[in-house]
Amino acid sequence: GCRVGGIRAHIASRPIGLEIVAHAGREIDGVCRFDTERADIFVGESHGDVVFFRTQHVLAFVLHVNGKAVAVPPEWAEESLLHVLRERIGLVGAKYGCGAGLCGACTVHVDGQPVRSCQTPVGTVGKGKVTTLEGLNDPLAERLRKAWLEIDVMQCGYCQAGQLMSAHALLKSNARPSAEEIDAAMEGN
Ligand code: FES
Repeated sequence: GCRVGGIRAHIASRPIGLEIVAHAGREIDGVCRFDTERADIFVGESHGDVVFFRTQHVLAFVLHVNGKAVAVPPEWAEESLLHVLRERIGLVGAKYGCGAGLCGACTVHVDGQPVRSCQTPVGTVGKGKVTTLEGLNDPLAERLRKAWLEIDVMQCGYCQAGQLMSAHALLKSNARPSAEEIDAAMEGN
């Protein structure tokens, strides 16, 4: 079905640099069509949970990052979520450390769960809501940042973005973790 009415998608790659605002979708011959602010950009297609926009110039799927919808061309689908976040859309909170799923410097949340973005092809995120360090702005995040400064957590600092993401996910699901639970949740970082 056409369930993406009201979506605002910014196509982030610099040569394209378009914004699509789709107000409502309706299904015609199995393809969702969206009314948008641009007459030349208006065909959307739903493929399972992933929505593609077909325009005169690009076909793109929508990635939800920090409350915004970002249109991602399909040729990026095999790229890691980390690469797209850092190199394509300029969100550099998640760090490239080992690139092999070992260090956790690249940790972001997908639907509130910490994931290794270096090991996650962006095309597999689907409708998952991605949150990066830049988008971590709730009271719990504020308390964590304050605690980080007060007890001087940083060493070289490189892994701290991932540490914060893992700590946030832990405390969101378990406000009073035991020492063992903290070790289990944080050992990947
Ligand atoms: Fe080390 Fe992703 S960069 S786990």
